[in-house]
Amino acid sequence: MAYSPYPLLERALLSPDADEKCGLTDELYAAVHNTELSAAGAAAPLDFRSAGRPQKPLLVAPAQVTPRKMNTQEGYAAMLHAICHIEFNAVNLALDAAYRFRNLPQAFTQDWIRVAKEEVYHFRLMRARLRHFGFDYGDFEAHGHLWDMAYKTAFDPLLRMALVPRVLEARGLDVTPAIRAKVAQRGDTETCDVLDIIYRDEVGHVRIGNHWYRHLCEQRGLAPEALFRTLIARYDMFIFRGYVNIEARERAGFSRFEMEMLEDFEKSMKAAR
Ligand SMILES: [Fe+2]
Repeated sequence: MAYSPYPLLERALLSPDADEKCGLTDELYAAVHNTELSAAGAAAPLDFRSAGRPQKPLLVAPAQVTPRKMNTQEGYAAMLHAICHIEFNAVNLALDAAYRFRNLPQAFTQDWIRVAKEEVYHFRLMRARLRHFGFDYGDFEAHGHLWDMAYKTAFDPLLRMALVPRVLEARGLDVTPAIRAKVAQRGDTETCDVLDIIYRDEVGHVRIGNHWYRHLCEQRGLAPEALFRTLIARYDMFIFRGYVNIEARERAGFSRFEMEMLEDFEKSMKAAR
């Protein structure tokens, strides 16, 4: 009999406890892997402002996150905490894509549950590094930027694929090499190993986002490149600010042609402001 993943997806998504959420996600992946899925009889997805998260970390506006110097033990831990927080949010984002967007091929649901399982793995690895330095998830302030974009795109999978994996998650590919270099400079090889795993897997996650973005555009008869430029402008987002990792983005399914077009487009937008 086909398996409905929605009750377990909902429990995992709404769980406020990080360990429980991770455990439920593992359970979910084991249940759906190589299994026929069904949405029959499932209640409609709930519309919530926030997915389940622990009371700590305290969320503040991005500009209010206290800057800390990487050369102190606490500053270094704050940087590891920021990555931990991204991974925790990435678990919720992937679960939400699988949970919310139905009427899509079941490969879509399978893909995002697999991404959620990999994000759980990243979260656990990074949390272990944070604990190694005497801190834990929740010990520093954080911001809710990633989840906010999930909320803003909750009504349309095309919008979600365009703005979350293709913009926010792809940004991770741009910034990880510089973070890794700083971590290597400190001689923290264990954290370097974790960053390498995260980096490798994130290429795959952005690739999945690209695949489904193109699939949805094709289904609706929309031109993917032109639509993406429109969305970037309308949602006030950007790709080209600081270093852009063209090599990793190409492996994640962006074409060089599209990247060049986007760079020109953003330059003209900036000039017009
Ligand atoms: Fe991740």
